[in-house]
Amino acid sequence: MIVALDHIAIAVPDLEKSIKRFLEDFGLEYKGTEDVPAAKTSTAFFPLPETSIELVHPLNGEGPIAGYLEKKGGGLHHLCFRSDDIDADVARLREKGYRFLSDEPTIGAHNCRVIFIHPKSCDGVLIELNQPPK
Ligand code: CO
Repeated sequence: MIVALDHIAIAVPDLEKSIKRFLEDFGLEYKGTEDVPAAKTSTAFFPLPETSIELVHPLNGEGPIAGYLEKKGGGLHHLCFRSDDIDADVARLREKGYRFLSDEPTIGAHNCRVIFIHPKSCDGVLIELNQPPK
């Protein structure tokens, strides 16, 4: 029985830089780093409250997921962070040099306003920000 999404692991070329991103840019709580010699890795954890797994599939065989599937055949597609003020967060991150896939948030699943950060701004990971309707 699956009881929780325990963690999502992202391979990063520069650990300190990525810790700064999640701590300062995204404002997550940082629980410290831990070297795991047995796995020959350094890890850093940022716990988050409740989350969901989203399965994404092309609608009518079209759209960006169709292209993704054609190239990769499936896989981890994006992380989504919930925002309580997406316009402010987008402005703040743009100020820090983050690129986005669109100029403005658009309407996504659950009627949320959503926008995607360009993967090149986040070590190759596609990150979505969303703000649920009030
Ligand atoms: Co999503």
